[in-house]
Amino acid sequence: MIFSLRAVALRGRVLLLAALCSGGAAFAADGAPRAAPAPAVNAAAISQRPGHAAIASANFLATNAGFEVLAKGGNAFDAAVAVAATLSVVEPESSGIGGGFMAVLHRAKGDRDVFIDARETAPAAVDRKDYVNADGSPNRDAALKGPLSAGIPGEPAGLVLIAKRYGRLSLQQSLAPAIRIARDGFQPDPRLRDSIAEQKQDLRRWPASVAKYLPNGKPPAEGAIWRDPDQARTLELIAAHGDDGFYRGETAKKLVAAVQAAGGNWTLADLDGYRAKERAPIVVNYRGYRIVTAPPPSSGGVAIAEILNILSGFDLTRMAQPQRVHYIVEAMRRAFRDHNDYLGDPDFVTMPLDMLLSPFYADGLRQSILPDKATPSSMLPRAEASEPGMHTTHFSIIDADGNMAAVTSTVNYVMGSTFVAAGTGVLLNDEMDDFALVPNKPNVYGLLGSVANAPKPGKRMLSSMSPSIVIGADRTAVIGSPGGSTIITQVLEGILHFIDGESAQQIVAHKRFHHQYMPDVVNVEQGTFDAATSDALTRMGYTLKPRASWGFMNVVTWDRKTNQLDAASDPRRPSGLGKVQ
Ligand code: GLY
Repeated sequence: MIFSLRAVALRGRVLLLAALCSGGAAFAADGAPRAAPAPAVNAAAISQRPGHAAIASANFLATNAGFEVLAKGGNAFDAAVAVAATLSVVEPESSGIGGGFMAVLHRAKGDRDVFIDARETAPAAVDRKDYVNADGSPNRDAALKGPLSAGIPGEPAGLVLIAKRYGRLSLQQSLAPAIRIARDGFQPDPRLRDSIAEQKQDLRRWPASVAKYLPNGKPPAEGAIWRDPDQARTLELIAAHGDDGFYRGETAKKLVAAVQAAGGNWTLADLDGYRAKERAPIVVNYRGYRIVTAPPPSSGGVAIAEILNILSGFDLTRMAQPQRVHYIVEAMRRAFRDHNDYLGDPDFVTMPLDMLLSPFYADGLRQSILPDKATPSSMLPRAEASEPGMHTTHFSIIDADGNMAAVTSTVNYVMGSTFVAAGTGVLLNDEMDDFALVPNKPNVYGLLGSVANAPKPGKRMLSSMSPSIVIGADRTAVIGSPGGSTIITQVLEGILHFIDGESAQQIVAHKRFHHQYMPDVVNVEQGTFDAATSDALTRMGYTLKPRASWGFMNVVTWDRKTNQLDAASDPRRPSGLGKVQ
C-alpha cells in the first residue's frame, strides 16, 4: 500500500526570496566553490523551514527508520544514513553496504549543496582480459556474477562520511534501526522474494549466498521472518569503528579471504585505500529553477543538464504531445551520445565539461534537430572512435530545518554479483559491468563506452545515478530513481513534470519513455502515448518499443509558499512509503 500523507502546513517563519536567491553556492572539499546562478525572483514571502519532515523510499521499514532517527534529534543526513543502511538489510536486491551510492545533499544553513561520491572502484589487479572470452566475445558471467564482477564497495565509507561531516547523531544511533531489523528479523516483501527466486541459480554457486538467501534451499516463504545476523555484526563494527569497521580489521580480512577463495582479486590494500569523496555538484538553470545534480563519475547530471539546456530553446508548454516528445527524445539522443563518448571518472580522465554544459554547445545541438523528423543515431557522429558506455534504489528526504538528501544507491543488477562474502553478510555488487570492459560492446543496460570509461586500478566506473534537488522560487523537489541507463531520462522527466507544476504523487505515477542514442528506439511504458501520438511519432521516423520495467521513483516536495510537504513513493513498488510527519 502506498501511504502519502499530506501534512497540514505548520507555522513557518518567512524570509524574503532574495535570501534564497543569494545562495546557491556549490562546494566541495576537493574543488573550488562554484557559484550557481539564482532562480527567477518574485516578491513572494516563503517559508524558511518546513517545521516537519518528509521521507520517501522504496521500503516502508527504511522510511520508518529515517523517521526514528529524526525523532532522536537527527537531521536529514542522519536519516539518510539510517534509510540507506536499512535498505541494505530489507532491499538487498537493489543496494547495500556491498555496493555504492551517490548523493546530493543540501544544507539549509548557508544554502549549500554538496555531492557525495561513494561509487565503487576497480581493484588494483583489474585485468580486462578477465572479462573477455577466448574468442574475443564479452564474458558476461565474469562481468555480472561472482567476485570478479564486484568493485570495492563505497557505501560504508559514504555513510561514515555523511554521518561525521553532516550528521548530528553518532553512527551508533543512525545505524541502530538497521542493526535491530537485521538482528530481530523482518518479513521480506514480494519483490525481494521474487528477486531471490529469479537469481537462485546463480546464488546457488556460492555457499554463503545459499546460507543467506536460500535457507532450506528455497527463497524465504511469504510471511516468514528473515534474519541477517552476519550483516548485523558488520553494521555493528561500522557503527563502533567507522571506516575501520569495514575497510580494515576483521571485516576486511573476511571480505578478501572470501573473494580470493572464489577466484576474485581483491586485496587488503584495495579496501584500505578506498575513500568516499565530496565533489562539486552539477548545477543547471531551467525555467527559473536551479537543478542540483550528480557530476562525474555519474553521467546523469551532465546528461540532464545537456538535455535541459537544449530544451530551454523550446517552449514545451505550448506544444502538442508528439512535438514535445520529439524534442525531448532528440535532446536525450544527443546527450547519450556524449555520455558514451566523453564521460568517466574525473580522477582519471579529462572531460570537456565546460563544453558539454555550455548553452552555446546546446544551441548547436538544438540547431541539428529537424522540427518534424527523428535524427537516426547513426547520422550523429561519435566524438571519437570508441576503443573501442535493474537494480538500484533511490530515496529522498527533507527535514524540519530544510536540509535535504537525494540518495541513489546500488549493487547494480538484481542482487548484484549474487556473491555473499562468507561471515560478513555482505552481498557484493556487480558494478564492474558499468565499465566499458570490452571495446564497442554494450553493458547490461545497452550502454556503450569509450576509453574514458575503461577499467583501471582504483578507478570509478561510470554511473547513471542522478540524485537531484530542484530549487525554484517557491517550490523544491528532492528526486531520483533506479533504472540503469533509464535513471537519467526518468529523473529528467520527473524534473520536467515538477517544473510543470505536478505534485509528488503525480510525478511518481507519471508514465515514462526513454531514448539512449543506441539502440535507436524509444522505449515506452504502456499508456504513455495515445494512438494519435504514437502514430505521429512513428511518421516522424521513431521506432517505439514497449518496455515493462521502469524505476521506482521516490520524491519529496516542499511548497514554501504554503509550507506544505509531500512525499510519494512510486506506485510501481507497493512496498514503498512516502510519508510526512
Ligand atoms: N549500476 C547502475 C549505475 O550506477 O548506473
